[in-house]
Amino acid sequence: MFTDIHTHILPGVDDGCKNLSESLELIKSELENDVKKIVLTPHFNCDGDNFLNRETFLAKIKELKSCVKKNNIEIDIFPGMEIKASFKILDFLNNKDYLLTLSGKKKYILIELPFTHLPYDLIELLFKIKLYGLIPILAHPERNEVIRKELNFLRKIKDEGSLIQVNNSSLIKRSHPESYKCAVKMLKVGIVDVIASDCHYMEGRFSNFEIAYNTLKKIAGRDEANRIAIVNPDKILKNEDIL
Ligand SMILES: [Fe+2]
Repeated sequence: MFTDIHTHILPGVDDGCKNLSESLELIKSELENDVKKIVLTPHFNCDGDNFLNRETFLAKIKELKSCVKKNNIEIDIFPGMEIKASFKILDFLNNKDYLLTLSGKKKYILIELPFTHLPYDLIELLFKIKLYGLIPILAHPERNEVIRKELNFLRKIKDEGSLIQVNNSSLIKRSHPESYKCAVKMLKVGIVDVIASDCHYMEGRFSNFEIAYNTLKKIAGRDEANRIAIVNPDKILKNEDIL
């Protein structure tokens, strides 16, 4: 049974699901993949000017939950956010109008990198986020072109206390060969903490949990696959420490 800590299932808020019926389709794909708990993590772009505040976010989650219930679907849904890596985030972290952490508790925060470059002074930014008592989880660094060439930099980020999340789709060679190559290297040097779907819509960006879990088992062995795909996501959701 899996917990998915990174999804764009909440409808009409970002580049994920457009409406409730698309959300239901993705939720069904999660269930088919034995996912029983999902965290909704819409994009939060601190450099933009249109932010999803707590009140609107919770109202939208309530609407999705009631639709799920009406359709007799059994899945637990939690709030979260995927935050663009920017120093501007520091202006929001103490603002109670925004729900920015995973499962709404003050422990884990999902941080997104750009694809083509690294944000200005990322190490310092992550350090400052940690000063708020939060543990950053770096979302899909294997998709970043610089990190693919500089795995030592990722090791440094991890050694300094951030966690590393790889996308399920990056564990499918034919879909994303470059990300796959990097994800395999990351697994071999032991710097992956958690996988998640980062699902957006059914065409190409869906759950993929079963296939990713099987790849993990082949590359890293059953114990490590269980730690990355089952134990750690569950701990993150429960606000427990990951050793
Ligand atoms: Fe995402």
